[in-house]
Amino acid sequence: METRDFELLIGRNIIEKYRADRHRPAVFALAGLEWDLLDEVWPPTYSPGGELFAGRIPFDRMSSFLEMGCGTGIMSVLAARAGVERVLGLDINPAAVRNTELNARRHAVADRVTARESDLYSAVGPDERFDGIYWNPPFLNAPEDSVDTSIWDETMFDPEYAKLRRFLAEGRELLTPRGKAYLWFGEALGNPALVADLAEETGYDLGVLAKTEMAEIPEALADAFPADLVGGDSEDGEDAAWHLHLLELRPRQA
Ligand SMILES: C[S@@+](CC[C@H](N)C(=O)[O-])C[C@H]1O[C@@H](n2cnc3c(N)ncnc32)[C@H](O)[C@@H]1O
Repeated sequence: METRDFELLIGRNIIEKYRADRHRPAVFALAGLEWDLLDEVWPPTYSPGGELFAGRIPFDRMSSFLEMGCGTGIMSVLAARAGVERVLGLDINPAAVRNTELNARRHAVADRVTARESDLYSAVGPDERFDGIYWNPPFLNAPEDSVDTSIWDETMFDPEYAKLRRFLAEGRELLTPRGKAYLWFGEALGNPALVADLAEETGYDLGVLAKTEMAEIPEALADAFPADLVGGDSEDGEDAAWHLHLLELRPRQA
């Protein structure tokens, strides 16, 4: 199977599994706190993201932070709790905007966290600039003619990493002089070589802030994957592993 068809298959399986899940919690625990989860919002319970390493992002040196694709808004809330004065969560999914607002209220940071419906940076004001910009992006590179504009396809797929390219290129213009971009990215499913190419093309130096190697696919997702990938050995005899990275992208000076 072509790699991109494989990514399409995995993404579709994850979406189906989520939709059929009758035990989806309305409130879940992550990073030592409880969070509201609305229907039609990516559930971090299935596959926790960069929030596990939020402590590695230097929020103490930021006064402003933008979370792209904020989903439940965990990273936005953690940034505000760490002292960032102005946090903006953006998501193309209106339910994610409501979910981020709910969690900002739940954790008493609604005065510092704003959420807006936005296609990438479309809802950012002309004078808004940020010390940090972060995304846990849709990193399945499925064929473009196989995906649609439904909320779930937007959450899972990014054909040819067109969105990621715009996230980096347009985000560069929204950073303050000391600003940096941060990205949560997978190695087993995502394509790290393509991310490195995109960083080069859009003018960033790339570093790895944190890396986790999960020996097993998260239980909640296990049956979304073909049996030979879950717990089995890969063709070269190595156990299948998920490598997930929190990347820091520092804009190169002209
Ligand atoms: C993998 S989920 C991550 C959600 C959340 N940040 C987390 O870590 O749990 C990707 C998020 O990006 C959002 N997204 C996808 N395309 C987008 C776009 N063009 N503009 C803004 N948000 C987008 C999705 O709606 C989804 O909430």
